[in-house]
This record gives sequence, structure tokens and C-alpha cells, in this order.
Amino acid sequence: MKIPTSLLAALVLGGLASGSGQLPTLKQAAQTRGVLIGGAVGSTLFDDLDPDYAATVGREFSVVVSENGMKWKALEGSPNEFVYGLADATVAWAAQHGVQVRGHTLIWHDSVPAWVYQLKTPAELRAAMQNHITQVMTHFGNRVLIWDVVNEAISDAPGHPLRANSPFALAGPDYIDAAFRWAHAANPAAKLYYNDYGAEALNGKSDAIYALVRGMQSRGVPISGVGFQAHLDANFSVKDSGMLENLKRFHDLGLDVQLTEVDVTLPAGGATPANLARQAQVYGDLMNACLGVKCSAFVMWGVNDAGSWRAGGKPLIFDDDYARKPAYGAVLGALQGH
Ligand code: G3I
Repeated sequence: MKIPTSLLAALVLGGLASGSGQLPTLKQAAQTRGVLIGGAVGSTLFDDLDPDYAATVGREFSVVVSENGMKWKALEGSPNEFVYGLADATVAWAAQHGVQVRGHTLIWHDSVPAWVYQLKTPAELRAAMQNHITQVMTHFGNRVLIWDVVNEAISDAPGHPLRANSPFALAGPDYIDAAFRWAHAANPAAKLYYNDYGAEALNGKSDAIYALVRGMQSRGVPISGVGFQAHLDANFSVKDSGMLENLKRFHDLGLDVQLTEVDVTLPAGGATPANLARQAQVYGDLMNACLGVKCSAFVMWGVNDAGSWRAGGKPLIFDDDYARKPAYGAVLGALQGH
């Protein structure tokens, strides 16, 4: 008989609470499955007044993403003047703790400084893009070997064309190809990803991304994989959405698959046992889908609920006080093959 994930989560948590000491951490369990597990981190990592944050990351995660510290606006607020404060600190912390870093993100229509919008010709803009990618990737070198090269370039408009409201539209329709080629030239050892939201299911947007990356491959563009953000709510059904089939079609192209920004908001009513169990079910199903395509990373968008960009929805696996939620047990259970 298959044990329901919610019951399993309760058993797992019971074991943890009783201090059995026999359960692995997430990163230990993930290592046995060949997948990185982690989350987006912010400056709280260095906050002595909130030591549980860094302790949780160090204990449970094998990969971190700087939630905002590596965006164009953070790194190059003025033309060719690079400021690496938080990004460097995060990368150094990761190295000290044996944790890998996902670089997020080189080209994204959001969090772009005003001066980029003032560039008037495609040539000027492309030069700025190439310089940004080259400088940033060269700075981090082999300390950051996973990059979201282009993020959220496909729009949600009917037919899912490239985003018209992006400052990078001016660079011409081949700007995505060019960005990946510049990134590969900057560090041929780095794994290069296209990353987007709303494409977890079999749907029009994932079809558009599939066509995009297949075209890139046919043109010899050096793309390593696709990141599926997975900003979801607890009503999402991995099964009914066709998520596994969707991830498989990308995997079948020879592309690596990662879940890159996982969070699952609770249904209305908040943190009731039933809602937490539903959230746990989705988390467990997401990890199983990820493992089903031999994904290389499962990254959540934050550490604890209180620090989430969607804190109201309590979408993460650690609660406000860093206690393990049922979703933690479901992720661990999936990693252990339960
Ligand atoms: O740090 C400044 C602070 O100095 C200022 O006083 C304050 C006033 O608004 O803003 C602070 O910056 C905010 C930053 O988060 C740090 O909290 C920005 O305004 C705010 O726009 C920024 O939001 C981030 C957003 O991306 C835009 O960059 C979110 O934290 C971050 O979670 C979110 O992450 C994105 C991924 O990168 C891509 N996929 C979707 C995901 C969620 O939107």
C-alpha cells in the first residue's frame, strides 16, 4: 500500500521531533540522488541577529542563488562600473560551506538600471549586453558554473511571442542566441540555462519555450538546459498538468532540467493541517517529477516563510521560525524514494 505523502510527512516530522537522529538532511539525501537542493538567499545570510537562517542553509542546502544580488541593477548600476558586494559575499560564503552557486540572472527585462533603457541603437545595446555578460562571468569564473543567461523572455500574450516590453527587444530577435554565445565565450565550462515561469505544465508557454530552445539547438547555440521556476499554489496538480511529460520532452532534447524558484502558496485559510498537507503533497510531487527526468537541481525561492517574496502565502518548507513543515518531510521522503 502506498503511504499518503501527508502521513509520511507526519511520520518523518515525528521522527525528527523525537530526535531519532536517523534522518539525513535534505542535502545528504539529495546527494545520493545526484541532485542539488537549495534556495534563494539574501543578506540575512550575514545577519548575526538571525543566525538560524545561515544555519538552516548550511545544514540543508547544497546550492544557493542570490535572490537579488546578481541582477543587472545590483551589479552594474552605472555603465561598466561593477559592484560585487553582496554577490561576492554570497559566493565566498558558499565556497566556505561547500555549497554551489546558481548565477541569476544575466539578461532579464526586470531589475535593469535606467541607463540601459537610454541606449538608443541595437549596436549600443548589444555592446552593453556583451560587456555585462562577459565582465560578470569572468569576475566569478569557475566559482559560479550555473547561469540563468536569459530569464523570462517569452511573453504571456496570445501565441507567446518574445516579450515586447523588454528593454532587450531593441537588440533584435536573435538577442537570446547572442547572449548564450557571449556567455559561452566568457566561460566555456559554465552550464547555461534559459529560465522562465508558468511553463511547468504542458501549455502554450511551455510549447513556445520548447520551440525556442529547439531552434537554438538547431542553430548550434550553446544552451545546457531549461530552468522551470515553479512559483505555484497548493491547488497545482503535477499529475493533471502533465508536468512530468512536459519536463520529459525537454530532457529528451538532451537538455538538462532544473526547478529553479520553487514555492507553493497555501490555499485560503492559511496554515491548517489540511492545507499544510496539500502543500506537502505538491512539494513531494514536484521533487518526484524533477527526479523523474534526472534533474540536476531543485531550488526553492527563499529559505523560511517569513523571508519569502510571497510571505503571506507561507510558500516554503521552513516556517517563519525555521521549523520544518510537512512540505520538508515530503521533499525528504521523495528524495528517499518513499
Ligand atoms: O533593496 C531595496 C531597498 O533598498 C528599497 O528601499 C526597497 C524599496 O522598494 O526596494 C529594495 O529592493 C527590492 C528587492 O526586491 C529587495 O527586497 C526591490 O524593490 C524589489 O523589486 C525586489 O524584488 C525582487 C524581484 O525579483 C525583482 O527583482 C524579489 O525580491 C525577488 O524575489 C524577485 O525574484 C524573481 C526572480 O528574480 C525571477 N523570477 C520571479 C521571481 C519573483 O518575482
